[in-house]
Amino acid sequence: MSIASAASGVSGSEKPNSSDHNYFPISPDTLNPSVLTDFRVYLKRGKHYVLYTKEREHFSEGLKKRLMDNGIQTVYIPFDQQALYEDYVVENFEWILNDPSIPLDVRSKVFLDTTSKQVYSIFAKKLPALDDSTLEGVQHVVGSSLSFLSTPGAMKSIGQFVSHDYETFTHSVHVFTYTMMLMQMLAEDWEEAALIDVGVGALLHDIGKLRIAASILNKPGKLNPEEWEKVKLHPVHGMRMCTKVTMPQMSLNCILFHHEKFDGSGYPTGMKDEEIPLPVRIITCCDVYDAITSKRAYAEAEDPFSALKIMSNQMKGAFDLDVFKAFIEVLGKNK
Ligand SMILES: [Fe+2]
Ligand SMILES: [Fe+2]
Repeated sequence: MSIASAASGVSGSEKPNSSDHNYFPISPDTLNPSVLTDFRVYLKRGKHYVLYTKEREHFSEGLKKRLMDNGIQTVYIPFDQQALYEDYVVENFEWILNDPSIPLDVRSKVFLDTTSKQVYSIFAKKLPALDDSTLEGVQHVVGSSLSFLSTPGAMKSIGQFVSHDYETFTHSVHVFTYTMMLMQMLAEDWEEAALIDVGVGALLHDIGKLRIAASILNKPGKLNPEEWEKVKLHPVHGMRMCTKVTMPQMSLNCILFHHEKFDGSGYPTGMKDEEIPLPVRIITCCDVYDAITSKRAYAEAEDPFSALKIMSNQMKGAFDLDVFKAFIEVLGKNK
């Protein structure tokens, strides 16, 4: 995913041409009429951009309606105000995701772009350790996403925009999405705060990969034993990166134990069965599925059916069967 298009909320049907490099498109649906925005909004008329609203102006219902009456589904923000728009989206994330008048596909795109951007910024900054403001940002997007992820049809809608090229930050968002869907099915009675802790753990589960050399992570061929031992340290590295913040225990469990296997063949501790907390068993299943269905440096992406077949035939015993069955159900429901 291009971070330049983050939170655009449009599918790219009206891409700016090469002379349009000063503006990026967004869906006007994402603009909250009750909020004073810090950025300018433009309409495109032929090759020209015409100012529609100024900074500190309400994008009122009347202005929205006028666009709708004229069949305009895309407006433009200057690139030099992109950060202001992205901040606006994060602040209004819950409103955007849960306003039923906004098309589900627009909300799904905003969901993926914004959560991906949160994780991307952690990986891009190469933070030596997680800090409080980063953790708060992650907790905010996770908490704001919960009810959206239980919206009927959300998973199917999100699925259209999922990239099958493996990148750690998009992978993290996919694992978070699947995990929350499964938690709703298998842990319905959990409190919202506990679900947020799981979501944060799912979103940050691979944060320790920041400590692994890119030459190993992106190696096209098989890893040698020495390289493999280094990769296997990423859960421990991840946990160590969280020592400067007050990370809830369940979030830490997700980071540290997400490569444990139900039959005890995983790492770093080899714990098994129900010793592994339920959310971690869920993350393990979603993690493997997303990796197999993504194009990685060393393997092509498998289709969902083949991925599930590989998981049940070649990885027998690795997953909690109840979790695996529920996962198949979640995927089936959202075809
Ligand atoms: Fe991992
Ligand atoms: Fe992973």
